[in-house]
Amino acid sequence: MLINYKSEINRMKKELNVTIVAHFYQRDEVFEMGDITGDSLELARRCKADKNPWVVFCGVGFMGQSVKVIAPEKRVLMPKIACCAMARMIDGSYFDDSIQYMVDKGISKENILPITYINSDATVKSKVGQMGGMVCTSSNAYKIIEKGLESGKKILFVPDRCLGQNFANSMGLKSCIIGEGECDPKDADVICFNGFCSVHQLFTLEDIEFYRERYPDILIAVHPECDPKIVKASDFSGSTSQLIEFVKKLDPEQKVAVGTEYNLVNRMRPNGNTFVLSSTKPECPTMNETTLEDLYLTLKSIEDKKPINEIILDEETTKWANIALERMLEIK
Ligand code: 13P
Ligand code: SF4
Repeated sequence: MLINYKSEINRMKKELNVTIVAHFYQRDEVFEMGDITGDSLELARRCKADKNPWVVFCGVGFMGQSVKVIAPEKRVLMPKIACCAMARMIDGSYFDDSIQYMVDKGISKENILPITYINSDATVKSKVGQMGGMVCTSSNAYKIIEKGLESGKKILFVPDRCLGQNFANSMGLKSCIIGEGECDPKDADVICFNGFCSVHQLFTLEDIEFYRERYPDILIAVHPECDPKIVKASDFSGSTSQLIEFVKKLDPEQKVAVGTEYNLVNRMRPNGNTFVLSSTKPECPTMNETTLEDLYLTLKSIEDKKPINEIILDEETTKWANIALERMLEIK
């Protein structure tokens, strides 16, 4: 017998008090099932306020972890424990090495304020929290770095070198990347870990030139995970939600090429005037792993009282990661 996944998912989520959460980069058929959809900041905020005891999170690992950290009483399951490639680039020991690098270059530990992009494991967030630091997302990085600078300390920004540099540039700050060229923390305000998003590195200056030559009035809008030279050559840079807002407000005749994940851009403005800024198909491989069948099987596992893929974090990690996340949520 063929299972109608959509109707079964809708039945079970009501009967079992489950909230389905889906990030904007999910496949369309999975995204449509979300009770809460959004970018990583919105998802963290709205999950915290949600009443249901069960969360089924369609996204990547750090996002499900963030819900568990800010709402430890909830049972959080993921249809696929898919890992963001960038979040994988740093763990607790790489974080410690980065601190040591700065100490070796003459900055005392007390004078370092770490900020971690939300795309990082809970162990990294926990270490950041223990050092008085904060989490940020691409929606609020400007405000968080600004707040961090009030401490008068050097900012260690992990793991995304592009986000760190792009925001440092927009704030007129000096930045450098550990392991690239001469990175002397004494000469920089923001010291970046050398991580990056492989999906957002797919957008090139040639792509921008192609679209500008073809449509001289076109606008180019990109995510700040893109390389700084791409952000510099663009007309607008913003987080997932900010990109959606930007495109929504355009005149319907205005052409725009958007440099971010394929599923999101494809859904943005289906009138033929919104293009994916790439000659490739920039899908996030891990975000795309989750299927409707996975979602169905996860709800079924709750119904069968054998929950699968549950996020479990130890108390100490949860406590400090929560402090780092709450410091972010307090900043409006
Ligand atoms: P947002 O914070 O814009 O949702 O981005 C998350 C992400 O993984 C971007 O690649
Ligand atoms: Fe991670 Fe990049 Fe995928 Fe976003 S698009 S989840 S940063 S790998």
